[in-house]
Amino acid sequence: MAAFICGTGSCLPAYRMTNEEWTQYVETSDAWIRERTGIESRHIVREETCVSMAVQAAKSALEQADMEAGEIDLLVVSTISAEHILPCAACEVQQQIGAANAVCFDLNAACSGFLMAYHTALSGIETGMYKTALIIGSECMSHLMNWKDRGTCILFGDGAGAVILKNSSRPFYLPAGHSDGSKKDALLLRSRHSGEIDNFTDPQYYMQMDGQAVFKFAVRQVPEVIREVLKKNGLKQEDIRFFILHQANRRITEAVARHLKEPLDKFPMNVDHCGNTSSASIPILLDEMNRKGELHRGDKIVLAGFGAGLTWSAAVLEW
Ligand code: UT7
Repeated sequence: MAAFICGTGSCLPAYRMTNEEWTQYVETSDAWIRERTGIESRHIVREETCVSMAVQAAKSALEQADMEAGEIDLLVVSTISAEHILPCAACEVQQQIGAANAVCFDLNAACSGFLMAYHTALSGIETGMYKTALIIGSECMSHLMNWKDRGTCILFGDGAGAVILKNSSRPFYLPAGHSDGSKKDALLLRSRHSGEIDNFTDPQYYMQMDGQAVFKFAVRQVPEVIREVLKKNGLKQEDIRFFILHQANRRITEAVARHLKEPLDKFPMNVDHCGNTSSASIPILLDEMNRKGELHRGDKIVLAGFGAGLTWSAAVLEW
């Protein structure tokens, strides 16, 4: 009873912020950002919220799948940036789209969150617990980053992506996933409830990142987890049409392609106009490709996510 993706949707905030605009906040340049990250612009919330973007992405995925919200059994939102801790963003989305029959919860595995939500939904469908699942990655990273820290702020963007999974007779592929809590300091964001922070101007209140450590980790672990997921499922790299990676930095994607000795055109990217949208990046890219008609029935695709925790994961799916 393996699941397949029967609908995708996404939402990017209306406001597009160019690299040039960052020079108002930090000492940087368009040339530095392009060269080191591949990013040219990113979308930043003004009116939008984590939940409003998730709702819009969910509605467009439902429309594409030609489904009613009431048909959804499981609704998972992967996020680290919802406006409320209680209730979970998934319940707010449920209420706004009318998914009255869905079990709803949020999931936090940082930039790997969409992959973890995908695994959760897949196993629920495989066991027969659910027939349909709506999984969403939605992030307002601009609320979490330190706008005075040029080493992190220029990297991130806001947005949401959604996919709908439905049970089907397609082959089931086992995912692969790992975590290493001993590297927790590489990407850290303290909660405002931690009691360690005096006020909201304290840089500790915002995301802190050892960029080079995360970069090296991603370049080392992503090719490995991709090889692992292929081996687990008896597949070869040449069976794969696209490797869709978490969009963190163009240079990371290029390095992973080099390690796997695969052509870069098998690694679609949208980091140039979205930046790093954390757990929203993979579903946003999937939706962009889907709507451009770049994904074809029977294509085998590898998804791979990595980020804070540290966490990293890969999955194979058949379109
Ligand atoms: O989603 C997962 C989460 N995070 C990631 O995937 C992040 C992975 N890491 C990265 O993408 C990169 O490490 C960054 C883009 C964050 C930084 O690029 P880098 O090539 O690793 O730069 P660096 O930190 O080694 O800094 C090199 C130089 C430094 O100057 P000095 O010490 O050589 O004089 C920095 O101070 O570049 C400087 N620098 C900047 N200069 C202009 C750092 N940020 C900037 C900036 N503009 N925005």
